[in-house]
Amino acid sequence: MKVDVILGLQWGDEGKGKVVDVLTPDYEMVARFQGGPNAGHTLEFEGKKFVLRSIPSGIFQEGKLNLIGNGVVIDPALFQLEVEGLEEAGHPLQERLCISKKAHLILPTHRLLDAALEKAKGDAKIGTTGRGIGPTYTDKISRQGLRVGDLFHDFETKYRNAVLRHKEILDRSDLGYDLTALEKQWFKGVEKLKEFRIVDSEHLVQRYLREERKVLAEGAQGTMLDVDFGSYPFVTSSTTTCAGACTGLGVAPNQIGEVFGIFKAYCTRVGSGPFPTELLDEDGQRMRDQGNEYGSVTGRPRRCGWVDLVALRYAIRLNGVTKLVMMKSDVLDTFKRVKACVSYRVDGKVTDELPFNLETNLEPIYVELPGWKTDLTEMRSADELPDEFNHFLAFIEKELGVPIAIVSVGPDRSQTIIRT
Ligand code: GDP
Ligand code: IMO
Ligand code: MG
Repeated sequence: MKVDVILGLQWGDEGKGKVVDVLTPDYEMVARFQGGPNAGHTLEFEGKKFVLRSIPSGIFQEGKLNLIGNGVVIDPALFQLEVEGLEEAGHPLQERLCISKKAHLILPTHRLLDAALEKAKGDAKIGTTGRGIGPTYTDKISRQGLRVGDLFHDFETKYRNAVLRHKEILDRSDLGYDLTALEKQWFKGVEKLKEFRIVDSEHLVQRYLREERKVLAEGAQGTMLDVDFGSYPFVTSSTTTCAGACTGLGVAPNQIGEVFGIFKAYCTRVGSGPFPTELLDEDGQRMRDQGNEYGSVTGRPRRCGWVDLVALRYAIRLNGVTKLVMMKSDVLDTFKRVKACVSYRVDGKVTDELPFNLETNLEPIYVELPGWKTDLTEMRSADELPDEFNHFLAFIEKELGVPIAIVSVGPDRSQTIIRT
């Protein structure tokens, strides 16, 4: 048995949470493999809406095991809030959720360091989610991180040493902070975390595969935010591509099965950094309004633009995408014409490969297609879809060379059309 992977092909917020929830019935385990509470994965069903940060999106379905993998970074204080929110809404988690011993802990000082680093950058700031993601992965890579498994062995000393190291940097910054209050919340969160099964997750995943039990790996962020291949330095600090599922769960490359690549029918990004197809006009505002494009973690307005097939082609190759999932098709329902960027003109030369530098001398070249001007939100099967929309799908499939297996026409679980 192989692990199927779902991941974002753009700059995050493609709708991964919704699709994981839709596909969960086919799987026995759903596992997050990277990122942390910088993610906000939204699910809507039966008139209810949930935004998940660290907990995998298979959590609402009975009999499914959800794993927070070793590649994830976890903040106990935010984890506790997330758990309590779900428990209050009547969703029991104890039986359904387990956490890797090797997942790294986001300490309160990591969050403060994130804020201090952003402040020091001034106008050049990345626009992080402020959740301490960068500093936690920095400590991981520099071999100074604390892991969930450390909570059970002389943790106080390790924690104090890390805090002393962080305070040296913090005290040189001009960030004011109250660590005591943050620590109180954090240690309460640690007690909550300990109520869950803390597991040797790589063994668990491998056991599932040996027993022919299907595993779905849930990515966070998106390929264009990948620390190697994204729009560096305006990226997150983890491997958001398919390779991250291998290192973030402990599976070999030849144990990867289907790779579902998710994208919006247009494109968005939050925070700073280049965005070749960004629209600063009425069309962009219309996408933001129709698509309710405001960040699910920070509430920030998302930047909007046309779908970028150059970036998607790149993402498809890097991830070995076998099936595409197109989200938020309904957001373009009222547009008379829709556009797709098929290539870039860089320094006067046309290219369909993503260049090293996305910031300068880059002009997107668009193909314009007729809009469908039809409400898609009530449609549930492929044969109801209007011709112009099918034409748009066929055009994208031809340009990208991968079939669009699923089309989403609204935020609810039911607003999903399976095409193949
Ligand atoms: P994720 O981070 O990839 O899980 O995506 P987010 O949850 O951050 O952002 C996607 C947003 O779009 C959420 O508010 C979803 O409820 C919403 N959404 C998902 N699919 C659709 C869709 O097909 N149409 C519309 N209108 N909204 C959708
Ligand atoms: P999901 O999983 C969209 C962005 C931030 C910032 C950059 C670095 O919901 O798709 P970080 O806090 O990770 O150091 O911020 O990455 N970012 C996201 N944008 N969706 C996300 O997650 C994101 N997680 C981080 O806005 O530009
Ligand atoms: Mg999101």
